[in-house]
Amino acid sequence: DISFSYAGPQGPAGETHQSAEGDIATLTTQNGIPVADDQNSLKQGARGPTLLEDFHFREKIFHFDHERIPERVVHARGYGAHGFFELTDSLADVSRANIFQRVGERTPAFVRFSTVAGSKGSFDLARDVRGFAVKLYTQEGNWDLVGNNIPVFFIQDAIKFPDVVHAAKPEPDRNFPQAQTAHDNFWDFISLTPESLHMIMWTMSDRAIPRSYRTMEGFGVHTFRLINDEGKSTFVKFHWKPKQGLQSVVWNEAVKINGADPDFHRRDLWDAINGGDFPEWELGVQLFDDAFADSFDFDVLDATKIIPEELVPIRVVGRLVLDRVVDNFFAETEQVAFCTQNVPPGIDFSNDPLLQGRNFSYLDTQIKRLGGPNFTHIPINAPKCPMAHFQQDGHMAMHNPKGRANYEPNSWGPTQGGPRENPARGFRSFPDVADGTKERVRSESFADHYSQARQFFVSQTPIEQKHIVDALVFELSKVERPDIRSRTVSHLVNIDAALAAKVADGLGLPLPDAAVAARKPITDLPPSEKLS
Ligand code: HEM
Repeated sequence: DISFSYAGPQGPAGETHQSAEGDIATLTTQNGIPVADDQNSLKQGARGPTLLEDFHFREKIFHFDHERIPERVVHARGYGAHGFFELTDSLADVSRANIFQRVGERTPAFVRFSTVAGSKGSFDLARDVRGFAVKLYTQEGNWDLVGNNIPVFFIQDAIKFPDVVHAAKPEPDRNFPQAQTAHDNFWDFISLTPESLHMIMWTMSDRAIPRSYRTMEGFGVHTFRLINDEGKSTFVKFHWKPKQGLQSVVWNEAVKINGADPDFHRRDLWDAINGGDFPEWELGVQLFDDAFADSFDFDVLDATKIIPEELVPIRVVGRLVLDRVVDNFFAETEQVAFCTQNVPPGIDFSNDPLLQGRNFSYLDTQIKRLGGPNFTHIPINAPKCPMAHFQQDGHMAMHNPKGRANYEPNSWGPTQGGPRENPARGFRSFPDVADGTKERVRSESFADHYSQARQFFVSQTPIEQKHIVDALVFELSKVERPDIRSRTVSHLVNIDAALAAKVADGLGLPLPDAAVAARKPITDLPPSEKLS
C-alpha cells in the first residue's frame, strides 16, 4: 500500500517512499534514465544552491514550461468522444464514397462538441452556437464533417469571419464580456450585417442553450456534393438527428448551472458514456440536383439559408454512436484537428463562399496551433487506412517516406520507388464549370435576409417565441449605445412586427415608424415586399 508510506518531500535522502516495486513502474526521464529521487533537486549541500547539472530537474521544469499550446481561435472549449458510424441505407447510387457503400459496415469516428466564443476555461451553458465536429476514419481517408448545432451561419462570405468573431469575443480594450454575446460590439456588427439575422433568430432561441450535447442536432450547414461512379453530382445537406430527442434548458437554469457546475455538458457526456448510455444520432441527407436547386427562391450556396424539409425531405442513411470516452483529454480532444477540406472520393465541395474560405482556414490555423505541418502524425488525426506520400521533415516528423525515392516520377521500381498516383481510385474534383468576371461581388441571389428568419420565428411555439423575445430584450439591455439597440429592433421589424414591438416594449424604446406601419403580420406580405 503506497498511501501511508509516503515520507513527504522532507524525507531524508534514501528514504523517499512510494517507490517502484512489484507491478509499479520505475519513473524515468524522457530519455528513459531511471529516477531515484523525484522529491528533491540536486544541491550543493542541504541548504546550498541547486545545481545546473540536475538534468532530471531541468527536463521536468522545461517540459512543464512548454505544456500549453494556443487554444483554438474559435471553438476553444470543447469535449470529445470516440464511437462509430454505421451505414443503414446505401448511398451507392449517388456517391462512390467508400463509407456510403455497404449497409451494416461500421466506420470509426471521433466527435468534438464545443462552444464558439468562450475561451478554453469558460462555462458550458453560455448562450452560443455549439460546434458538432465529426471525424470519420474511412477506408479512403478521413472525412471531417465540421458542423454546428444550428443549420445556418452569421455570414455569407468567409472574408467576414474575422469580423464576426472579433465582434463576438471579449472587447479588445477591456477584455470582457467572457463567453457572452450580450455586448455592444457584437450587436453593433449584427445590426450592420442583416445577413446575420436568420442565425440570430436561432441563437436567441432555446437551441443556443442545449440541455446536453446528447440532445442537440448537428448540421453540415453548407451544400456539399456527392459524386457517383459515373461522375454525376448530387447536391447534399447533412443532418445529425439525436435519438435522445432535442432538449434545451431555459435561461434561468443556464445561469444557475453555469455558476454551480461550469462543466455541466462535459460531465454529462462523460457520465453517460461511462455508464453505458451511449448517445446516438441518425445521419440524414437532403439530396437534390441542379435543376431542383434552381427552383428555390434562395441560393443553395448561401449558408444563411436552410433547405426546408417540406421541399426536400430528409433521408436517414446511418447512425453515429459514441461509446468510448478519451484516454487523455489533451492528446485526443485538444489535439484533434478537423478540417472541412478533408473529404474522400465521392464527396466534394460546392461554391459556397463560406465553405471555400473554411477549406483554406483550418489547415492554416492548425499548422500554428499544433506546432507545424506534421499534426496528421498525432494518432487522433492519423488516418486509419493505408497512406503513403512524399511529404517529409519539419518539426516532429514521425512518418517520413521509407526507401530511396522521395519524389515522383522516379525509376526506382516497386520496392524503392514509393507510392504512385491512382487514376481509378483517386480523388478527382467535380468538373464544375465556372465563368464570370473577376470581381469582389456578392450574388444578388443572396439578398433576401429576412424571409427565412421570419419562417423560423413563426415556426416556433408561443413559449419558444417568448424565449426569443426575452433573450433579445436581455441581450440588448446589456448594450449601452441606444443607436445599436434601435438599429437592431429596426431589423426585427422586417422579420415580424409583433416580435419587433415586444422587444421594443421590453427595452422601453419607441417603435421605429416602419414597425408601426407594419403592424399587420409580415408573414402575409407578398414576396415582392419581403425585403422592405
Ligand atoms: C473551428 C464549425 C465557419 C474557421 C471550428 C470548429 C467547428 C467549426 C465545429 C471546432 C472544431 C473542433 O472541435 O476542433 C464551423 C461552422 C462554420 C464555420 C459550422 C460555418 C458554417 C468558419 C469560417 C472560418 C472558420 C468561415 C474561417 C474562414 C475556424 C477556425 C477554427 C474553427 C480557424 C479553429 C480550428 C482549430 O484550431 O482546430 N469551426 N466554422 N470557421 N473554425 Fe469554423
